[in-house]
Amino acid sequence: MSDDVTVTRDARTTVSVSVDLALAPIEAFAVLVEELSSALARAGMGFEVGASGRVTQGELAVGHIVAWQPGALFRLEWRPADWQPEEVTEVELRLAPVAGGTRVTLEQRGWGGLIGEPGELAGWFASAVAAPFLRATAPMDLGDWLTDRRARRPSGALARDVYRAPLYHYPNFQVILAELALTPDDYLVEVGCGGGAFLAEALKSGCRAAAIDHSPEMVRLAWEVNHDAVAAGRLELQRASADHLPFPDDTFSAAAMTGVLGFLPDAVATLREIRRVLAEGGRLVVLGSEPALRGTPAAPEPMASRLRFYEDDELRQLGLDAGFDTAQVVRRDLEPFARQAGVPEQHVALFAGPGAPFLLARKG
Ligand SMILES: C[S@@+](CC[C@H](N)C(=O)[O-])C[C@H]1O[C@@H](n2cnc3c(N)ncnc32)[C@H](O)[C@@H]1O
Repeated sequence: MSDDVTVTRDARTTVSVSVDLALAPIEAFAVLVEELSSALARAGMGFEVGASGRVTQGELAVGHIVAWQPGALFRLEWRPADWQPEEVTEVELRLAPVAGGTRVTLEQRGWGGLIGEPGELAGWFASAVAAPFLRATAPMDLGDWLTDRRARRPSGALARDVYRAPLYHYPNFQVILAELALTPDDYLVEVGCGGGAFLAEALKSGCRAAAIDHSPEMVRLAWEVNHDAVAAGRLELQRASADHLPFPDDTFSAAAMTGVLGFLPDAVATLREIRRVLAEGGRLVVLGSEPALRGTPAAPEPMASRLRFYEDDELRQLGLDAGFDTAQVVRRDLEPFARQAGVPEQHVALFAGPGAPFLLARKG
């Protein structure tokens, strides 16, 4: 009979994931640092970049930069457990040139000490790494990510480029401006202002304005695009949700919302909020989201199946349900506005048809 032998294995290991990008290492480094910083902020964590940077979670410093070589790598000393501060691992993001671009590897070394048993480590890897990775690459989450990234909560360099001057939105802007007929006496509120391109057009009337968007990057871009108006005290921008507008009752004389309606989980709640902040006599123009656009270049997948579409009578009813005293839907031909905005001739046809629906509503 032999003695029982307990085999103790150190569960420490390296966890790594990598991707090849068609970018030069220095460019890939800059994009990754910016994106990681925004993504961690969305996840409630801070990333102070640079040679003496750190990663925080609430008050806690989780990682300290110990090597910072733009274009090549950054490395962090990582403390995964505040209840066991002597437990330290190493996180490295490494970039290596490969044919046609850069291989990016994210690695955590010395991992697993707190998890222990190999079966437990397998469980952690399956549930905390493999399952989220598979979920992120499955249709529901990937479709949500693409929808958020491009339109529902835009972020990233491509979105900033598009929303700085969204050429294909200018026809809608021109219709809304024609309906609102703003003057220097007006005080306008825009809900879901994106990169502030509509505001820039509206402010040409001499009016004052305030606007919100729930994407921090869009609020920053709207600020950049309209910094003169902000500096002159003619424009206020805030990050906020459409159904909780950070403005007092009875404030504005005019309101606009374009390219937003279909994304709202509760459109009546938002319209009720807009009505609340409008003064008596205040007017609202909203671009509709009509079912005929589903699956067209104006509302392609995966956006289309995440958008809500409204027939004209439903759109009018939204306005009435929100408490507006008058609400009507008008159809406006966007084609001449598309030409006027400089949409390339071969794409002007996209704006042809029965005209786009706009909700016109008034308080009092
Ligand atoms: C398709 S973009 C349109 C942007 C701009 N109005 C335009 O036409 O160029 C939709 C915008 O609405 C914002 N948005 C969507 N849902 C929102 C919500 N619930 N609260 C605040 N902003 C919202 C998004 O962040 C995005 O900037």
